[in-house]
Amino acid sequence: MKGIILAGGTATRLFPLTTTTSKQLLPIYDRQMIFYPLNVLIKAGIKEILIIVSPEHSGQFLNLLGSLFEKYGINIEFKVQPIPRGLADAFIVGEKFIGMDNVTMILGDNIFEDDFSDDISGFKSGAKVFAVKVPDPERSGVIVFDNNMRAIKIVEKPKDWISDYIIPGLYIYDNRVCNIAKTVKPSDRSELEIVDLHNWYLKRGELEVGMVKGAWLDAGTFDSLLEANIIVKEKNIYKHFDPLVDEAIKEFNIQLKELAKKRLS
Ligand code: TTP
Repeated sequence: MKGIILAGGTATRLFPLTTTTSKQLLPIYDRQMIFYPLNVLIKAGIKEILIIVSPEHSGQFLNLLGSLFEKYGINIEFKVQPIPRGLADAFIVGEKFIGMDNVTMILGDNIFEDDFSDDISGFKSGAKVFAVKVPDPERSGVIVFDNNMRAIKIVEKPKDWISDYIIPGLYIYDNRVCNIAKTVKPSDRSELEIVDLHNWYLKRGELEVGMVKGAWLDAGTFDSLLEANIIVKEKNIYKHFDPLVDEAIKEFNIQLKELAKKRLS
């Protein structure tokens, strides 16, 4: 299983904060946002991770994460997505990295309280996504269930209400996803929509849907960014990181402090 964090995009809803840095490098309590999705992948035992970034902020990601996990046997690679062409573009940008393997993708601005290790390590084939009930489903990919909670339809940002459940930014696919992504046509908003990938698997009866049990936060607006900070603190999400990730962050902080001391002396 390989891992991808999609951390590009334009983050217009967070202007002007994101004119000087990337959304995924903004703080969520005591660490940068990107560490939350990274922790989900590392906790699940994924050792090869690709971070897809925008051209403007690639250097900042490299400075923070370029060699942070080297000594722990976790390989982090970077790839620039020149134009934010949509979530499904990750499997075109990341095709070489994925190679012959299965892949878990997580959005760089999504924060989950749950541990998805069993879903990721137990994955065999098809695709697995998750559903969560929200008060404003019209902003996301909405999933409709029948009376037995079997998924029957997925629609990106439907104009009229069809369900309270949406699919948050954590997706597990088998290797076919790279070829399927190449067949996706740009939508009316000129993006390669991830919903098209999900519908491909759903139509063939190969889409499994799990439920998100804990908190899920998409830190893409001022309010949701603030809420993410509060919830992460209140629910101690930052305290339940994989010890390896915590150690790497602590070590990096020590190195930074030593560097600062040297500069001052
Ligand atoms: P969005 O929040 O949908 O888009 P955005 O980050 O560009 O923000 P805004 O709508 O405010 O302009 O993206 C969700 C995540 O996916 C986020 O981490 C950015 C990332 N992303 C990419 O890396 N490439 C893309 O082409 C898109 C659309 C998003």
